[in-house]
Amino acid sequence: MARSMTSSSASDPSTRPTDPARTTLTLAITGASGSIFAVEMLRTLESDQRVGRVLLVVSPSALRVLAEETGASGRNSLVERLLGSEPGHASGKITLLAHEDIGAPIASGSYPVDAMVVLPCSMGTLAGIAHGMAGNLIERAADVCLKERRRLVLCVRETPFNLIHLRNMVAVTEAGATVFPLIPTFYNHPQSVDDMARNYVHRVLQHIGLPQPGAFAWGVPRAAEEPL
Ligand SMILES: Cc1cc2nc3c(=O)[nH]c(=O)nc-3n(C[C@H](O)[C@H](O)[C@H](O)COP(=O)(O)O)c2cc1C
Repeated sequence: MARSMTSSSASDPSTRPTDPARTTLTLAITGASGSIFAVEMLRTLESDQRVGRVLLVVSPSALRVLAEETGASGRNSLVERLLGSEPGHASGKITLLAHEDIGAPIASGSYPVDAMVVLPCSMGTLAGIAHGMAGNLIERAADVCLKERRRLVLCVRETPFNLIHLRNMVAVTEAGATVFPLIPTFYNHPQSVDDMARNYVHRVLQHIGLPQPGAFAWGVPRAAEEPL
């Protein structure tokens, strides 16, 4: 059975540390625009055999934006619906944790997480992380990554930025996070929004040590483009 429950505890088997040879990631989705990029990330992690466990946290605002942008509304079977799989057919490695559960495993530095990605990252969550608020599971898990010197990637999305946003980006960068703005690339000639999301997700995963097969790399011909 797929393990996409909405609450968790330290003894929940779906959050038990995985085989140490496989990657454990926290993925947080917050209420900024660009939720289809998060869906692309989730699907890529689901199919990447190097990833053993994904602890997923979705803020209430993210649920609202997901409903606007993807039509997926509510938390019931959210993981399966985002993956586009039938209930019970997902791998089970993605566990949905409750946003308010500050007792979840990822709220502690003793739980082994390799990296955390916030995609998309709202200015509200950026501010909470920049100021060490730790008022919900996303802010707390990010705070833990910073204190444990683990990789934290914040895929910020807003336009334009005000001075508070920019100062908060400086603060998180100084604390060790990577600000990875949700800005697509065009030099790879994307044919669709899905192409843009895929290339962006590949770049984020390359950054945290999970390069994806078939990812676009500037100056490296793709298989079909190799000269004879
Ligand atoms: C459709 C929609 C799009 C939004 N887009 C953004 C955005 O791109 N960036 C942002 O910082 N906030 C955006 N917001 C506002 C955030 O959702 C709001 O500030 C929220 O409090 C963030 O909460 P969270 O960080 O806990 O998810 C958007 C809200 C809605 C309803």
